[in-house]
Amino acid sequence: MAITQSPKKQSTTEGVEDDQDLSNECKDLLLSLPKEKGWRTRHIYLFQGFWCQPKEIQSILSFQRHFQALDSDIVLSTIPKSGTTWLKALAFAIANREKYPISKKKSHPLLTSNPHDLVPFFEYKVYASNDLPDLSKFPEPRIFGTHIPFSALADPIKNSKCKIVYICRNPFDTFVSSWIYLNKVKPDSLPTFQLEEAFEMYCNGAMGFGPFWDHMLGYWNESLKRPDKVMFLKYEEMKEDIVSHLKKLAVFLGYPFPVQEEKDGVVEDLAELCSFEKMKELEVNKSGKSIMNFENKNLFRKAEIGDWVNYLSPPMEEQLSKVLEEKLGGSGLTFKAAKRP
Ligand code: A3P
Repeated sequence: MAITQSPKKQSTTEGVEDDQDLSNECKDLLLSLPKEKGWRTRHIYLFQGFWCQPKEIQSILSFQRHFQALDSDIVLSTIPKSGTTWLKALAFAIANREKYPISKKKSHPLLTSNPHDLVPFFEYKVYASNDLPDLSKFPEPRIFGTHIPFSALADPIKNSKCKIVYICRNPFDTFVSSWIYLNKVKPDSLPTFQLEEAFEMYCNGAMGFGPFWDHMLGYWNESLKRPDKVMFLKYEEMKEDIVSHLKKLAVFLGYPFPVQEEKDGVVEDLAELCSFEKMKELEVNKSGKSIMNFENKNLFRKAEIGDWVNYLSPPMEEQLSKVLEEKLGGSGLTFKAAKRP
């Protein structure tokens, strides 16, 4: 089913991005939504309680209306720059290892494809076009990625037995990673986004799919309520001990490592296949493009814990610490490397 398009080159209406192919429904909706300056688009809009870019709002509406989940589906959720690419690689490698064995001697799709091409985003890929996808053509288990908050996921995802995995990263590093990335991928027509301004917006919750605290808490609370449905991972803990996290993730997804695989070192090999160092050096990740028109190389920067100290001043640290205390205090959700050493 196609979504009705506005004629192109229609005169620009206040509040509407003139450079995007939006449906009339979406254009009308945007006119009614609060808006803020965007990070890589002219504006972001407050839609269903979270900030979102115009094109994604259209995709999310389509996703919410049409997506039907299978019990075998896997949904990987993150707020941007929290380890999405890594989680996609890990889950794909775990769930497909019968089809694509993990062995140093054998080829693997992750050596020639970026994880975002193997595990598509609902909002940037699957529902991004005006035509609805034929999901029956997707190989099972179907693995999808998304930045959509838990509250806005399509109901069939919440109501089926499909699994959701969320990876969360310390907000200090997530902010710095986002600021650097978005300045790299933003169109030349938009000015450089200054650190101080971006930081204020981040602390106020105004960034794509934010406020970040609502995003994290939505998945965090659901993981406490339904641990068999939502697995909540932390980037820092995964970096510190990938092997034990991989084993837990494999069990959660329903693809546990048998003893023999463990003995054969499959878990370690899988961790290495998906490691930052390995992925960053692959040709496809140096020269290809996977998410929209963005270059893959920008997805692999430093992958360090606590790099934020090189960017944020002590007053900024204090400000964001207060936000964390106010918004996440009492939730039980805490972060490593959220203090200057
Ligand atoms: P930095 O900017 O701090 O280096 P996302 O995948 O959600 O866009 O997150 C990007 C961040 O994850 C970047 O952080 C990037 O370097 C890091 N990253 C990318 N691939 C990774 C991997 N295989 N393992 C660990 N971190 C990775």
